[in-house]
Amino acid sequence: MAQLAAASAAPCALLALTAFSGAPAWACLLCFTSYSERHRICQIFAGVEGPRVEKCEEAFSDAFKGLQDAEINYDERGHLHDSFSQITFSLQEIASAQGSYLVAFPYAAKKMQEVIARLKKVPACVPPCGFQELSRRFLCLGCYSKVCDLPLDCPIQDVTVRRGDQATFSCTVNFQLPKEEITYSWKFAEGGVRTRDTSFFREMPRARGYLARIRPVQPTHSGTFSCVITHDELPVARLYFFLNVTGPPPRGETELQGTFREVVRWAPREEEGVEPWKPGLGELLAEPGALTSGNLFLLAAAAALASAGVTVLAWAFFLWYFSGN
Ligand SMILES: *[C@@H]1O[C@H](CO)[C@@H](O)[C@H](O)[C@H]1NC(C)=O
Repeated sequence: MAQLAAASAAPCALLALTAFSGAPAWACLLCFTSYSERHRICQIFAGVEGPRVEKCEEAFSDAFKGLQDAEINYDERGHLHDSFSQITFSLQEIASAQGSYLVAFPYAAKKMQEVIARLKKVPACVPPCGFQELSRRFLCLGCYSKVCDLPLDCPIQDVTVRRGDQATFSCTVNFQLPKEEITYSWKFAEGGVRTRDTSFFREMPRARGYLARIRPVQPTHSGTFSCVITHDELPVARLYFFLNVTGPPPRGETELQGTFREVVRWAPREEEGVEPWKPGLGELLAEPGALTSGNLFLLAAAAALASAGVTVLAWAFFLWYFSGN
């Protein structure tokens, strides 16, 4: 079966190759004007049918040979199409006025070259990864468009953090992203694995920002974090951060801390930089060395105040209940 597929694929590839190398030299003209438009222009220049029309069509293609390798910004193809429509129109006028195509075609081709030179340039492809839609180019040779030939998966970035410290991952790329409908999602491959294999990852559905932060880092956080950037529901790039947790093995105090909620904070999407840290009580307690005597005193005082409050309330209720009877 596979052999059959391979056998049938080979002639296809050959066919594509010959079609490609046989592309006419005047490819930009071919992409943006129709055969009937070109044929009509030559009919006006050289009569209804016959060898004179064929010679005119040859001269037409020869004049536009300079545009065969033109690569234009994909967003600008509308402009180019408009310019070709204008050129077609003025060539028809020149032909109707009994002008010479030997002058008119080279002049039109030169004008077209100037138009192409003025079009907005295509941003360069920025390695090493990403689907860079804004760098999409239109190739006159073959009349098709293509994006940079780069993989979606970016190389793994190694991040080494000491246990108890903070880790931040910034899901940013060095090429320009479309302005709208960009979303971020995060995944985690736990158990200290350093991988880009999707089967190891599980979703972290609450994480939606481009910036991720973990504090304090624990040995259980070692592994690979992955951020997927999507535009309009299509993946643009997949970034990987391998978190290597180093530092001393857990001491006695860590067992106590283990009972507190671990802090995994994910920055909201709009956020510009690292958020200022406003710790809650839980986070303070989760910090190593948080249970100092001073903090314990504050905690005790808060607890005493709370219980005093409850007592007063109970007493007030008691008074109200019995005064009612
Ligand atoms: C983690 O970092 C330590 C210290 O830099 C290094 O010795 C170790 O090989 C790293 N582990 C992995 C899995 O890369």
